[in-house]
Amino acid sequence: MSTINTRYLGLELKSPIIAGSSNFTSKVESVVEAEAAGAGAVVLKSLFEEQIVSMAHSMASKESYPEADDYLQYYTRTNSVESYLDLVAGARRRVKIPVIASINCFSPQGWTDFAVEIEKAGASALEVNIFFMPTDKHQGSTESEAVYFKIIDNLKRKLQIPVSVKIGLRFSNLLNFVWQMHNHGAAGVVMFNRFYEPDFDIKNMNVVPASVLSNPSEQRYVLRWVGMVSSQDSPIDISASTGVFTGEDAIKYLLAGATTVQVCSALYKRGFKVITEINEALHKWMDGKEFRTIDDFRGKLNYRNIENPSLFERSQFMKHYSSYI
Ligand SMILES: Cc1cc2nc3c(=O)[nH]c(=O)nc-3n(C[C@H](O)[C@H](O)[C@H](O)COP(=O)(O)O)c2cc1C
Repeated sequence: MSTINTRYLGLELKSPIIAGSSNFTSKVESVVEAEAAGAGAVVLKSLFEEQIVSMAHSMASKESYPEADDYLQYYTRTNSVESYLDLVAGARRRVKIPVIASINCFSPQGWTDFAVEIEKAGASALEVNIFFMPTDKHQGSTESEAVYFKIIDNLKRKLQIPVSVKIGLRFSNLLNFVWQMHNHGAAGVVMFNRFYEPDFDIKNMNVVPASVLSNPSEQRYVLRWVGMVSSQDSPIDISASTGVFTGEDAIKYLLAGATTVQVCSALYKRGFKVITEINEALHKWMDGKEFRTIDDFRGKLNYRNIENPSLFERSQFMKHYSSYI
C-alpha cells in the first residue's frame, strides 16, 4: 500500500496536496474542512502589504493626533490585520496540518516587521506572494530581481519559520533566479501565481478582467518550468500551482519534480472534496505502478533525464511545427 506523506519547507505533510491561497482559505472553518478532506497543508488567503502599511500609519497618526484620525477607517484597517492574526491563531488551534500564512507584497520595506506577528500567532511557514510589476523602462532585470532578494533577506533576518516565495511567470532566466532565491534563504518556490490578466471589451472600449479561474490547459507552461527548476542541484522545494483539477494533473507535477501541488480553482468549482479525490487517485496510480512512496517517482520526468536540454528544446520545437500539416 502506498503512502503519500511528504516533506515541504521542512514540515511533515500527510499529503502533497495543498489548499492554495484564496478566499476559500480565509476562515478557520474552511481550514478545518480542508484538513478533513485530506489536504497536506493550507495556505491562508493573502494579507496585502498595503493593509499592513496602512495599519502602521494609522497607529502612528493615532498616537500623535488621536482626534485627527477617522476612527472608522482606523478600526477597519486595524481590524483586518488583527483578524488575520486571529485567523492564523484560530487555524493553528483547530488543525494539526501546517498552516501557511501568506502576504502579498511588492516592496522590501515597511511591512516585514509585521511578519513576526504572524509567526507569533502560530503560522508554520510564510508564503510571500510577490506582485512586482516592472513598469519602469530604466529598471533592468537585475534590479527588478534584487527586490525579491531584498524581501527574502529582510524576512530571513526576522523569522524562524521557513519562507517560500510565490512568483509570477516571466523571468529572464528562471533557473538562475530560483537558485539565487534559495541562496538568499527561500526554502520554497511556488510556481506560479496567476495574476490578474487584462482583456479588452471592444464594444465598450474598456479593459476588463479575463477569467479568474484557471483551466487544465494552463498546466503545460508550469510543467515545463517545474521540470527544469527541479532538475537543478539547488534543494529548494517546489510547490506547483495552476490548473490542477484531477489526480492525473497532480501526478504530472510530481513527475516533473514538484514537492507539493496546490489547488485553488478546483476548490471553487468542486469544493474541498476534490482534495479527497486527488489523494485517492494518487494512491490508486501509485499502487498500480508499485510505487511505495512519492520519492519513488518524483521528478522521474524532469530535465535531469535529458542529456542536452537546450538541444532537446530546440529539436522538440522544430518537430512540433514541422510535423503539423
Ligand atoms: C478567487 C481567487 C483568489 C485568490 N486569492 C489569492 C490570494 O489571496 N493569495 C495568493 O497568493 N493567491 C491567490 N490566488 C491564486 C491561487 O492561489 C493560485 O495560485 C492560482 O489561482 C492558480 O492556481 P489554480 O489554477 O489552482 O487556481 C487566488 C485565486 C483565485 C481564483
